[in-house]
Amino acid sequence: MRALVVYESLWGNTEKVARAVAETLTGIGTVDVVESDFAPTSVEGYDLVMVGGPTHAFSMTRAATRTEAVTARAAPHLPGRGIREWLSELDTPAPTIPAAAFDTRVDKPRLPGSAAKSARHELRSLGFETSVKAETFRVQGYEGPLLDGELDRARAWADEVSKSLRLRP
Ligand SMILES: Cc1cc2nc3c(=O)[nH]c(=O)nc-3n(C[C@H](O)[C@H](O)[C@H](O)COP(=O)(O)O)c2cc1C
Repeated sequence: MRALVVYESLWGNTEKVARAVAETLTGIGTVDVVESDFAPTSVEGYDLVMVGGPTHAFSMTRAATRTEAVTARAAPHLPGRGIREWLSELDTPAPTIPAAAFDTRVDKPRLPGSAAKSARHELRSLGFETSVKAETFRVQGYEGPLLDGELDRARAWADEVSKSLRLRP
């Protein structure tokens, strides 16, 4: 089993989730965890793709929202290519392997919109198998940290995904 975990993160919260997911999947195979800026545009050779990013303006980030995060909110890292752009640059048709999406969002459950839901929609259009529901992990404010227990929830989610896809017994 070979998995690719692609993430985008301005304050590091989504990166932490991505690394927790990758760590869990390592138990069943080889896992490459890569920032969207450096992710391959072909997923040939992988059996599973997991993609995660922060929710900006109710969806996946855009160049303008990322710049706003850095200039107006002092985010420490500015991704040049977010997961939205990475998905748009992926070779098509994508192989019919499973793909799952996750995001981070502020701790306001009534605020609509989710980067993961948008990413899952895109993954489906590209031809991936997207039976796994998108998952959200909550942060405090815009910069985080993640709420207590979210990294444990990320590990449990990754474990559940691998079981539901029968990648592990
Ligand atoms: C420009 C901008 C727009 C945002 N819009 C939303 C939003 O619509 N909904 C939400 O829940 N969080 C929103 N957030 C908060 C981000 O989701 C939060 O900063 C992110 O989860 C932190 O993850 P990171 O450390 O990986 O960047 C926004 C943040 C920024 C900077």
